Amino acid sequence: MNTIQTVQTSKSYKCWLQYDAVVNQQRKEEYSVIAKVISKQLDSPAADAAAAELKMAFESMLGIHAEVKHEKPEAGVLLSIAESADYLTDEGFEIKKEGSRLLITGKTDKGLLYGAFHLLRGMQTGEPLAKIEGIQNPANPLRMINQWDNIDGSIERGYAGASIFYENNEFTKDLGRIQDYARLLASVGINGVSINNVNVHKIETDMITSVLLPDVAKIADIFRQYGIRLFLSVNFASPIELGDLKTADPLEESVRQWWKNKAEEVYTYIPDFGGFVVKADSEHRPGPFTYGRNHADGSNMLAEALAPFGGLVIWRCFVYNCMQDWRDRKTDRARAAYDHFEPLDGQFLDNVILQIKNGPMDFQVREPVTPLFGAMPKTNQVIEFQVTQEYTGQQRHLCYLVPQWKEVLNFDTYAKGKGSAVKQVVDGSMYEYKHSGIAAVSNIGNDENWTGHTLAQANFYGYGRLTWNPELSSEDIAKEWISQTFGPDESMQQVISHMLHDSWPIYESYTAPLGVGWMVNPEHHYGPNVDGYEYSVWGTYHFADCNGIGVDRTIESGTGYTSQYFKENERYYNSIDTCPDNLLLFFHHVPYTHVLKSGETVIQHIYNTHFEGADEAANLVETWCSLKDRIDPQRFDAVLKRLEEQAEHSKQWRDRINTYFYRKSGIEDKQKRTIY
Ligand code: GCU
Repeated sequence: MNTIQTVQTSKSYKCWLQYDAVVNQQRKEEYSVIAKVISKQLDSPAADAAAAELKMAFESMLGIHAEVKHEKPEAGVLLSIAESADYLTDEGFEIKKEGSRLLITGKTDKGLLYGAFHLLRGMQTGEPLAKIEGIQNPANPLRMINQWDNIDGSIERGYAGASIFYENNEFTKDLGRIQDYARLLASVGINGVSINNVNVHKIETDMITSVLLPDVAKIADIFRQYGIRLFLSVNFASPIELGDLKTADPLEESVRQWWKNKAEEVYTYIPDFGGFVVKADSEHRPGPFTYGRNHADGSNMLAEALAPFGGLVIWRCFVYNCMQDWRDRKTDRARAAYDHFEPLDGQFLDNVILQIKNGPMDFQVREPVTPLFGAMPKTNQVIEFQVTQEYTGQQRHLCYLVPQWKEVLNFDTYAKGKGSAVKQVVDGSMYEYKHSGIAAVSNIGNDENWTGHTLAQANFYGYGRLTWNPELSSEDIAKEWISQTFGPDESMQQVISHMLHDSWPIYESYTAPLGVGWMVNPEHHYGPNVDGYEYSVWGTYHFADCNGIGVDRTIESGTGYTSQYFKENERYYNSIDTCPDNLLLFFHHVPYTHVLKSGETVIQHIYNTHFEGADEAANLVETWCSLKDRIDPQRFDAVLKRLEEQAEHSKQWRDRINTYFYRKSGIEDKQKRTIY
């Protein structure tokens, strides 16, 4: 398959691969010189995809029907492999101009693909070719996206329509859309995809049997062209679930053999299969605990089965007691991942990677960075972000998450003294991990614009770009995205960039305050409900009473969670004097009259931020309206609708939260604004 059949051509569907006609005459002339011929010196799925993408883009941007051939052209783009280029990693590329030729060189065909997309990004943002030249290697080896799609077509925590992979308990026939997804992923550097929900239900268990493997293989064929390896989430109890064995005990020989046979079978269908993603002993999913075994036993069994084929086990650390008694103040969910996994350091095989959520709880709008990063020098680690906005407005509210992810990646763990950032753990450099990188839960579905909220495309784009290069600034990422998505109008670009950058602070200000989290409606997690999780089994409490609020996680009087950090961070968070305001209630229980570093009391801070946040949400609508006529009506109206909903809904948040705390504390707003 080396032609591209985009299924829809609307602007909202095309995301950042618009390939609009180049209007700047000088650029057009410069680009046209290299656009007449595309020469590729090898035939491979990824090289073909690179050439096809360039061909389509040149046609659309320059009106040039490029000839694709094998011979070296006088003038044109030359895609070539340099196996001995020691300055390139397997996925890196070099772009260099030589007279009227533009050379894109890769060590493998994947480099060609990334080089082609880099060229097109530069052209779409109007860069002269001299600025597009250069050498790039991805910072992170594994750059992965996790689909939480179910075969019935639903998506767990999906806010952009139904699955693009499945409908009515079958694989989709619309492979064109999957190809377009692969193009979008490859264009930002993603190289791995797991195509089914980590909660593996009945029918999906068959994805590793001959019943569904032929369908899985078809999807893998598409992704392969775009340099993306396919992974599957598997049910740890598959041998039982599929009716073959009575146990899934990882130390039982028959079980180990079962998985070895299984791995062999999977690789007959998909020779470059990536491996298994596993959610075990987590939220009622089966796992090694059932047999009195630990997570090293469980993951190593799968790793042993996959190792002969080069497969990986991506084992999730989201393991905690989800049947907690709310009266039990000693158990602390935040401690769980570290308590379960840190003692096992050194026991995992080298094709096991632990996938660890960025925070110790669950993708809240604000939580600290998990203390596990840097704490396991002998165990491969991959960080897990959530691009889908489960707790951050469900793609009905605007929340640009790139600044949050950057904050996490730049967080200093102090694992090896000052300057031991999370990004150095997950790119593998700190401990020379054999495998490492970044994963995230996808935010796409079959909505025409992929992400529900059109501006949520920026999170998809930005996530990918950060996995490739975590040093990119969130401003530069936004600028790239806006300019490719909406065009060259600079003042428009600035307006949208401001909206994006204000959006996370705005969302944070009218939702749960000061890092405490969880004030959402149970189950679907949309909208305010201060006590929604207060008396539940999930370990997610704020402990508000008439005097104060917050979770005491200190060493002296609390759960001792702070002691899981390296000394510098332990001291920083453990002391109320140094703990930053925005995480105060995550780490400490304080009276409402406690004075923050900002100079405000906690209660007045709650009132202020909630009134201001709702006002700012309303301002987003006005700001967007200033762009009317500068953005096509379809996307303009769609975004406007979402922003209007957000403005309205933020008032609910404001009034529910303010009223709750006014009633609890009996303390009035100094500014006497309306509280109910
Ligand atoms: C969250 C989310 C679940 C998901 C889980 C996970 O708790 O609400 O839907 O299954 O994370 O990451 O496994």
